[in-house]
Amino acid sequence: MSDKVWCDPYFKHLVGYDKGVMNAWFPILLSSLSICAVASAFTDSPKQIKPGELWPDNRGKHVQAHGGGIIKLRDTWYWFGEDRTQDNAPDKRYVACYSSKDLVTWRFRNQVLKTTDPANLGPGFVLERPKVYYNAKTRKYVMYVHLDDQSYRAARVGVFTSNRVDGDYEFKTSFRPLDKESRDIGQFIDDDGSAYLIFESRPTGGFYIAKLSEDYLSVEKEVCFVHAPLEGGGLVHYEGLYYLIGSRMSGWAPNPNLYATSKTLEGPWPDFKDIAPPKTNTYGSQSTMMVKVTGKKKTTVIFMGDIWHPQTQWDSRYLWMPLEIGDGKLWLPSPAPWTIDVRTGETVVDGRG
Ligand code: GAL
Repeated sequence: MSDKVWCDPYFKHLVGYDKGVMNAWFPILLSSLSICAVASAFTDSPKQIKPGELWPDNRGKHVQAHGGGIIKLRDTWYWFGEDRTQDNAPDKRYVACYSSKDLVTWRFRNQVLKTTDPANLGPGFVLERPKVYYNAKTRKYVMYVHLDDQSYRAARVGVFTSNRVDGDYEFKTSFRPLDKESRDIGQFIDDDGSAYLIFESRPTGGFYIAKLSEDYLSVEKEVCFVHAPLEGGGLVHYEGLYYLIGSRMSGWAPNPNLYATSKTLEGPWPDFKDIAPPKTNTYGSQSTMMVKVTGKKKTTVIFMGDIWHPQTQWDSRYLWMPLEIGDGKLWLPSPAPWTIDVRTGETVVDGRG
């Protein structure tokens, strides 16, 4: 809301009033002016991303995009994630979509998915970690999700499509990618536009990085099997090097997340290392993705993590921080409020110059 909207009603009421009324209104006018001054001081300074806090959307409701993914189309980012709103129907699973031009203020677009058990996985079925890709050839938006039964034994993906980024997505198919068990999924779009799915496969103890088919409706080819028992996988290509992150497997409980680098997606990916002091358990969060923001002055890579509240999922929080990255090193700084200028790519973290 702009400060003009806050101020105008006061001025409208003052037009055409006599002096007595004016005297009565004067203190109100003064206080409204000072409210406007304070408001404009706030609106003039860039808005902050506040890790771990409630993140209100344009309606003032906490963003419901847990285990999420982000795509950029022209100058707009779209954030998709698990919508765990408390009064959602218990027999359905929901995915919400938000849009932003600054990565800080998010506009709710639609509950793009509200589905009852699309693959007959039974009561308590699981639909997690949605990731949306735009296929320029078919002009379809293609959503991958982790689909499972109540006890996480089915280990499949589900695929949904829509003609609009924030339209209602329709169920297409469900399968085990490359015939492997697949639980947590991650998405990666390389600088050349190629689309990959990262999926965790327990029997083989690691991640697969796999290329999607031309229409994105299936998983075509194994690019690499990364032998590290990790999930919550995310990838970024930064200054000629691929950086892969993931969490250990401890359900909703946070653990020390790790990273490795490679010159090619095919690997090798030796030496997984901590992304933060291990005793902080990644500051209570779990990786879901890395977002690369290429600005005019700087390229910033953002760590997107979830701070899960398993008993009150709708209240789960987000930990987003700009990573310290380069020369084969990646480090998640301790969380603090921060700003980003998406035009320049520059960030400022509170208290850290
Ligand atoms: C986590 C996973 C989440 C969810 C959870 C269930 O390890 O990353 O997406 O599946 O387990 O316990």
